[in-house]
Amino acid sequence: MALEANLVAEFDQLAKNYPEKRAIMMLALHRLQDVRGWLSPEALEDLAAYLGMEPVEVFGVASFYPMYRLRPCGQHVVSICHNISCDLRGAQDIVAAVCEATGAPLHGTSPDGKFTVTTVECAGACANAPMFDLDGVYHEDLTPEKAKQIVRSVK
Ligand code: FES
Repeated sequence: MALEANLVAEFDQLAKNYPEKRAIMMLALHRLQDVRGWLSPEALEDLAAYLGMEPVEVFGVASFYPMYRLRPCGQHVVSICHNISCDLRGAQDIVAAVCEATGAPLHGTSPDGKFTVTTVECAGACANAPMFDLDGVYHEDLTPEKAKQIVRSVK
């Protein structure tokens, strides 16, 4: 499979801003993940072919950053910060509450495929710890009850 035509057009336009096509890799990984839901080995190969790189080079970048999903995931992704500030302010209780409310195990997906729950390192919102990112939106100053309420309100 090759990259989707709309992505090729988007990436071609984006690449005009850089001296080398490979400079768009991280942006391209985000967009490819948006379109396909996760970054399968095939997706990484498709992007590598487009960028004129070896698949292992693209995998090396995609596997380094936690925001890239290298496994299938649920319709919604809850990324709970468990770094020091959040941990000291109850991140483990937030993890337990979110897993209970979603039915997903930590680093897994709920049986209905609706939620994937994972932990991440500091998301830069320490002043309002504990926090999680739900589909790219930060939720801060969480309590277990507030965390449950947020995930249960997701359609
Ligand atoms: S430690 Fe959680 S946002 Fe920084």
